[in-house]
Amino acid sequence: MDADLIKLVNKLQDTFHNLGGELDMPQLAVVGSQSSGKSSVLETIVGRDFLPRGQGIVTRRPLVLQLIHVPSPDPDATTSSPTEWGQFLHIDTRYTDFNEIRKEIEQETFRVAGQNKGISKLPIHLRIYSPNVLDLTLVDLPGLTKLPVGDQPSDIEKQIRNLVVEYISKPNCVILAVSAANVDLANSEALKLARTVDPQGRRTIGVLTKLDLMDAGTNALDVLTGRVYPLKLGFIGVVNRSQQDINESKDMKAAMESESEFFRSHAAYRNIAHKNGTKYLARTLNQVLMNHIREKLPDMKARLNTLIGQAQQELNSFGDPSLFGDKNQQGALILRLMTQFARDFVSSIEGSNLEIS
Ligand code: GDP
Ligand code: NA
Ligand code: MG
Repeated sequence: MDADLIKLVNKLQDTFHNLGGELDMPQLAVVGSQSSGKSSVLETIVGRDFLPRGQGIVTRRPLVLQLIHVPSPDPDATTSSPTEWGQFLHIDTRYTDFNEIRKEIEQETFRVAGQNKGISKLPIHLRIYSPNVLDLTLVDLPGLTKLPVGDQPSDIEKQIRNLVVEYISKPNCVILAVSAANVDLANSEALKLARTVDPQGRRTIGVLTKLDLMDAGTNALDVLTGRVYPLKLGFIGVVNRSQQDINESKDMKAAMESESEFFRSHAAYRNIAHKNGTKYLARTLNQVLMNHIREKLPDMKARLNTLIGQAQQELNSFGDPSLFGDKNQQGALILRLMTQFARDFVSSIEGSNLEIS
């Protein structure tokens, strides 16, 4: 994630917190058919390998993933503490090995949703602490499906829909509507469901996966350039790791490189390569978060102004500080500094360039 955005959000969150408020950041949730690549997409957004992915039904409980920013460790510190770690709500262990996090998600899924393809709406809560993230909640969800398999009840389609809608209907939720490019977009369950809760397509980002698996001679240029389905935030094509890549433990960096190469060398996508891929998706998310923060600024400014007004009044009530003793003079000075700080803060926000190119 973008380092400047992380800094800005942290500063705003601290300030809002000090003002007795909350800078509520949006939640991000993935929706799509089974095996369309939802977990793969989420994982690349976080930038770490830790989610169970694979063919068939793998995600069988919602995973509510809270990213929590922690400061980078002091390079001069004598004891070295881990820079990134995960912590579940259901178990009192600090995980620094992300493979162990994946195993625990799998085990916890089995424990509650059974061994045989059952689904549970009971979420798994996982927190990831890292200097490289900003405070944000991401939700991985079971895939939309039509036909019951294994232990699934006959109304599985409805159950999963209801579960997904519970998360994506919140106005504060940014929806990543994931569709596989090797399936006709007209059949996209992701877009159908996203449309029911976001009819104007304001908070839905279309993500088109598996571009590498399309039939030879076909391409998704029309979809990616917005000529097929209207979404304000548009469609972004990605190429995630294939099952073979997963089996061979291909790492994220290598996967991103092959993805860039795919877009740059593809005759149909060469000209739109800069507007596709995982990195561009991450940048688009940054932009969405920035816009969200921008919408919150007037409220924040109003609060600061109230605070300044209050401080000013209190300051005036001291009368002429030169007539009083030391204690009141100190109080007046503190209030003056506070007021100045608040003013500076407002102008720094107003002056800051919130645009990410
Ligand atoms: P989910 O069920 O929607 O969460 O999908 P997963 O992320 O678990 O992926 C399902 C399967 O599709 C896995 O075997 C992935 O390796 C594979 N997959 C996902 N995205 C892509 C892609 O863009 N290209 C290829 N070739 N395989 C993909
Ligand atoms: Na899957
Ligand atoms: Mg999944």
